[in-house]
Amino acid sequence: MSTVAIVTAAGSGSRLGSDVPKALVPLGGVPLLLHAARRVLAAGIADLVVSAPADASDAVRALLGADQALAGARVTVVDGGPSRQASVAAALAAVGVEADVVLVHDAARALTPPDLIARVAAAVRAGHRAVVPGLPVTDTVKEVEDVAADGAARVRGTPDRARLRAVQTPQGFDRALLDAAHAAGAARAGDEALAATDDAALVEALGEDVWVVPGDRAAMKITTAEDLLLAELLLRR
Ligand code: C5P
Repeated sequence: MSTVAIVTAAGSGSRLGSDVPKALVPLGGVPLLLHAARRVLAAGIADLVVSAPADASDAVRALLGADQALAGARVTVVDGGPSRQASVAAALAAVGVEADVVLVHDAARALTPPDLIARVAAAVRAGHRAVVPGLPVTDTVKEVEDVAADGAARVRGTPDRARLRAVQTPQGFDRALLDAAHAAGAARAGDEALAATDDAALVEALGEDVWVVPGDRAAMKITTAEDLLLAELLLRR
């Protein structure tokens, strides 16, 4: 089976308090995107499609092309879009026809261990058509509505924590299913605010099963400056 990994890296660095795109923010001296791409290659996946911010795609192409650790990879860089869903769709359009398994990974999950990436790919190859890594939730989570002017929000309910999983990436899919899910998602979208925040949600919207496999704390998403500090600690460990 031929497996391709999409690494979506078109987000801004604003929540990190950075002027440069988030994917180019250094962690231990190496840009987040390189950390993520190297680990994908280490998992045995050598075909990568990266979505980059449109105004930084040349810089991203140069960065990936110059990295010795990625010498064995075939990397295509495309312009991302205004939402994560749009950025993944742009990358998916550039995935070669031969691919039958596609992983979708956030560059922001820079320290995702290669064995987790390989596990997700293996689960798809073994016959689960949509696979996401996830961890049990330790906080009690409330669903809220009606946010008031002072920021307070009315609680609608408390889902049973034992049934919740905080999901990560890479998420792995049978290629035909991911194509169908994104086509349906694009037809629904229009309003960027309604774009899906992960790819599994698009598959769920088709009524297809999605399976959760054990995730890894090291696959944390680096969003804030505090996350970056935590990632520096994980990297040194
Ligand atoms: O913003 P969010 O936390 O959802 O970002 C998750 C991943 O999606 C990041 O790797 C980010 O670079 C990517 N992203 C993207 N295109 C966007 C927004 C986010 O590729 N327009």
